[in-house]
Amino acid sequence: MQILSNKDLSTFNTLGLRSQAALYTELHNIIDVHGLIGDSSIKKETWRILGGGSNLVLPSTVQGLVIRVANTGRELIHEDQDAWFVKAQAGEIWNDFVHWTLDQGFWGLENLSLIPGTVGAAPIQNIGAYGVEVKDTLHEVTCIDLQSGELKTLSNKECRFSYRDSFFKQEGAGRYLIWDVTFRLPKKNKLNLEYGDIRKEIERQGLDQNPRNISKVVCEIRLSKLPDPKVIGNAGSFFKNPIVPASLRDDLVKTYPSLVSFPASEGKVKLAAGWLIDQAGWKGKKLGPVGMFEKQALVLVNHGGANADDVWKTAAQVSADVKARFGVELEPEPIRW
Ligand code: EPU
Repeated sequence: MQILSNKDLSTFNTLGLRSQAALYTELHNIIDVHGLIGDSSIKKETWRILGGGSNLVLPSTVQGLVIRVANTGRELIHEDQDAWFVKAQAGEIWNDFVHWTLDQGFWGLENLSLIPGTVGAAPIQNIGAYGVEVKDTLHEVTCIDLQSGELKTLSNKECRFSYRDSFFKQEGAGRYLIWDVTFRLPKKNKLNLEYGDIRKEIERQGLDQNPRNISKVVCEIRLSKLPDPKVIGNAGSFFKNPIVPASLRDDLVKTYPSLVSFPASEGKVKLAAGWLIDQAGWKGKKLGPVGMFEKQALVLVNHGGANADDVWKTAAQVSADVKARFGVELEPEPIRW
């Protein structure tokens, strides 16, 4: 395990923000982990864990040690008559892993195709798309307690998943490093075609309803709406879809009949933040180098040369405009370092 100084992180965050880590290291195997835990020269309070950098807003300088989790590997560890159990190491690229499961003839993750980031980052914010979330098939997570160095296994329940949230984003933040993730992929899993345009696209293209074709159309839909971070810096949806009392939705819909909402828990609804931002006039609009994407207003984009201050300035203005117009608070989805 090697520790580097002044490491450039601009290619390690999909927003493409200029950023430098005071100290930087990569973990490829468990020996690296033990080397790091045993190293008392760097204060543990300053450690920061980096996955694919696709849900992060990095400051110009990250003080302390940035640790990139880079272990790879994936395997079928168990199979019974009901399910396949597959384990992937945290540093695996999420989309490669999804395609590997499909190549093996397993299904359950196809709706989550093309989400950027790593396997280890997926449980942190319970990634989700097209009616499916990681929590639906996650069996358990192996993590490393950064204080004691002990390995700990957390069950699905212990991860305390909710919409774009988990134990790892709350009480466990900064304490646990996710090392591998095991999924239970049921053999009788129902295909999920009901969200967005999936069914429409499958039918329009005359495709069979199977996991591979769902993955194919999910990739096509994502590519048509979401900017490629290699071309234009972004972190996917920048705000969560706000969950509000159904009574607020009922009031708003009187003034805005086209308001988009989805059922949430008892007495609550989830509003489409993209719709709110779009209606507030922010679709395709910029403030300095940072704006909201022209094809999907929920995606904040770096038009070039932005830093974290530029990002938060635009995000604050978007939130203020949405709040002034609809009385709804938007909460950012990416993690702020
Ligand atoms: N909408 C607009 N204008 C816009 C964008 C959206 O009117 O500029 C409307 C759409 O017409 C639609 C509704 O808002 O009626 C919802 O839009 P969409 O289906 O594109 O999904 P979303 O709610 O904006 C969520 C996830 C995405 C995920 C998609 C598909 C969150 C915060 N975002 O977006 O996840 O890919 O659904 O399932 O929940 C991510 O988290 O980074 C991400 C991309």
